[in-house]
Amino acid sequence: MERTFLMVKPDGVQRNLVGEVIRRLESKGFTLVGLKLMNVSRELAEKHYDVHKERPFFSGLVDFITSGPVVATVWEGDGVIASARKIIGATNPLTAEPGTIRGDYGVSIGRNLIHGSDAPETAQYEINLWFTQEELVSWQPTLTPWLYE
Ligand code: RTP
Ligand code: MG
Repeated sequence: MERTFLMVKPDGVQRNLVGEVIRRLESKGFTLVGLKLMNVSRELAEKHYDVHKERPFFSGLVDFITSGPVVATVWEGDGVIASARKIIGATNPLTAEPGTIRGDYGVSIGRNLIHGSDAPETAQYEINLWFTQEELVSWQPTLTPWLYE
C-alpha cells in the first residue's frame, strides 16, 4: 500500500485546522499510520525543503516552518500520494479550487496551511526524514472491505 507524508504547517495549527485536515483525509478513506505535534528545527526544515534551497523564498519558508508547532502525519492507501495532493489543492490558495483545503481556507502562497509529498520518491524521503520506523503504526482498519473491492 502506498504511503505519503502530510504536514499541517504552523498557520494550520494556529488557525485550529488540524482536526479539519485529518477529518478530510480520514473521511476520504485513507489510513493514518503516523501522527505527531512537534516544533521543527532549522536543520529538519532545511532538509525537508532541500529541493528549494536555491529559490528566493527558501529562507523565509524555513523561518515560517520553524515559527510554531506543526502536525506531521503519514497516510496510507491506494493512490494516496496523488489523491492527497488533489485534496490539498494548488500551491497558491487563491487559485486552488474551492473544495480543496487550500482553496477553502487560504489566501496566500506563503500561508498555504499544509504540505503533501509530490511523488513516490519524495514521499519515501520525507517519511524517513520525519518519522522513525517505531513511530509508524501498521494496522488493518476493519473498514477495508467497505473501501476496496
Ligand atoms: P508543499 O511542498 O509545501 O506541499 O507545497 P507545493 O508542493 O504545493 O509547492 P512547492 O513548489 O513545493 O513550494 C513549497 C512551498 O514554498 C512556498 N512557496 N512560496 N513565495 C513564493 O513564490 C513561494 N513559492 C512557493 C509555499 O508555501 C509552498 O507550499
Ligand atoms: Mg512541494
